[in-house]
Amino acid sequence: MPPCVIEKNSSRALYTVMWLYILAAWGVCVSTATSEMFTCAVPVDPVSARLGHVATMPCWLTPSMNAEGLEVRWYRPKDFDNPVLHYRERKIQEASQQSQYVGRSSLGLQEVTSQGLKGGDVTLKLVNVTLKDQGEYVCYVSSNQDYGTASVFLNVTVRGTPPLLSAVRTDADSVNVSCVSHGWKPRPRLQWSDGRQTLKPAKLDYSSGAHGLVSAHSWVLSSPSSAPWVSCSLVLSEGEEMEGRVDLRNVAAVPETSSGLQTAVIILALLLLLSVVFIGVLYKKRGNKSTHVLKGDILDIETMRQPEDLVDIENMRLAGVDVTLDLKTAPSYLTVDSTGKIVRDSKDNPCPPGEHAYILGTHGFTSGSHAYWEVRLDKEMVGVKESWWVGLASGSVKRQGDVPATPSNGFWFLSSYKEKGLRLNMAPDILLPADPRPQILGVYLDYDQRVLSFINVKDNKLIVTVRAMFIGELFPLFNPGQGDTAPMTILDASHYKTKPVEESASETGAFLVSNQSRNHQTSESKDCL
Ligand SMILES: *[C@@H]1O[C@H](CO)[C@@H](O)[C@H](O)[C@H]1NC(C)=O
Ligand SMILES: *[C@@H]1O[C@H](CO)[C@@H](O)[C@H](O)[C@H]1NC(C)=O
Ligand SMILES: *[C@@H]1O[C@H](CO)[C@@H](O)[C@H](O)[C@H]1NC(C)=O
Repeated sequence: MPPCVIEKNSSRALYTVMWLYILAAWGVCVSTATSEMFTCAVPVDPVSARLGHVATMPCWLTPSMNAEGLEVRWYRPKDFDNPVLHYRERKIQEASQQSQYVGRSSLGLQEVTSQGLKGGDVTLKLVNVTLKDQGEYVCYVSSNQDYGTASVFLNVTVRGTPPLLSAVRTDADSVNVSCVSHGWKPRPRLQWSDGRQTLKPAKLDYSSGAHGLVSAHSWVLSSPSSAPWVSCSLVLSEGEEMEGRVDLRNVAAVPETSSGLQTAVIILALLLLLSVVFIGVLYKKRGNKSTHVLKGDILDIETMRQPEDLVDIENMRLAGVDVTLDLKTAPSYLTVDSTGKIVRDSKDNPCPPGEHAYILGTHGFTSGSHAYWEVRLDKEMVGVKESWWVGLASGSVKRQGDVPATPSNGFWFLSSYKEKGLRLNMAPDILLPADPRPQILGVYLDYDQRVLSFINVKDNKLIVTVRAMFIGELFPLFNPGQGDTAPMTILDASHYKTKPVEESASETGAFLVSNQSRNHQTSESKDCL
């Protein structure tokens, strides 16, 4: 330290700072700091945290000193007496804490190398951030001789639904691609690209909904002959973005005969950096009364509407069954264990390209059936299986040769492909995000409501619910994936059936817990068939 500083500043605080530095430089342990003067320092910019994640609101003492013996109080403005966090007499005081912060707030670290209270770091850590947590937080630190305060502003951000893209051919070389995404905060940037350049949208609208969450709607006209695909991305900040893509080459002209079926192709492909909960109504084909609905046809598809929505899996499990594989339906390309529960692709006898190696369950379901079963798709040491089909097949598939696995041929299933994610076997193609890929997949069937739901059992989330015009007796369908020798194992779900099936089990849909979804599910169940 240059001596001139000492001469110029004779104030006690700076003198103290000097001594602390000097002592620290000598490696002398500074024991107690309670008699020192200090101020609270906080970052200049607002802190932001994602809904449901952890918020860290930094605050530290300058000069750096031990705060273990001090009082630390974090409070919302005007709520000094009901703090977010109160530390005093060397422990957290819970008595007067504001109820919505109980169990969620603690003292955290401003940075990993900080020594916490010992180093004067009084940072607030808040877990499971909610929308109401947005706003100002006051950091207040007091000793016997001095106190300091400073404010940190917390912004809560919400990543909305993955963009839903739909494409409709308007004429020979023009496709109208629209993109919709809901539930963002703050307003995301929406950008279109065809891989070579950004496209200027013909229209881009934002609207605000519940809790100030923002929806974005946009469309562009694009030409398949100039670019094979277009993407729509929503961007909050770097790394906080979601992208959907649509492949323009597969967009069929809107069929004239089925006038009510408006959407030609929807493809969702996601580039997600972190795990994401999939939300939102994905796709809806709605026939008007006069439209002829084809056998096997998909009536509608939906996924989670809110990130918080959980599936009432307990209720579905009441319909638990013990599925056994029917060896008679197994092609030689599959290896099935003697218990009829484990199937894998045969290493020595691979399925020829173009053919499908699937196997059905022994027991079929007809009108009046509710059924639920689970399939394990991971294995210790091997990891999560990446290629599979799980779903239903009509009994008629046993008689037909190798036909395309489409709904009209009696196949309704969810599949997983190594790179592409999860897919429903429907024309047009639909891709679902595979992040995380299910380790245990739950399958729920309500035959009379024409409902087939797929659940990621581990996190209790709906992957997708399909309503389809099922044909005849339905059998569980399994395909362990060509070239993927990791096994798929059927778990016995019949032991969940301890309670009698409650009334609610006859309701349609996926038993979404949220009311919003429940309303949605029950509304149009019958009238559009
Ligand atoms: C935070 O959320 C997780 C997962 O939703 C939950 O398990 C945990 O109990 C919550 N913690 C608090 C303190 O609310
Ligand atoms: C934080 O939120 C405030 C108020 O909503 C807003 O004005 C500000 O731009 C936000 N800041 C950041 C960095 O998001
Ligand atoms: C493109 O589709 C949107 C709906 O997604 C519609 O509002 C718009 O009018 C369409 N534009 C053309 C030129 O067809």
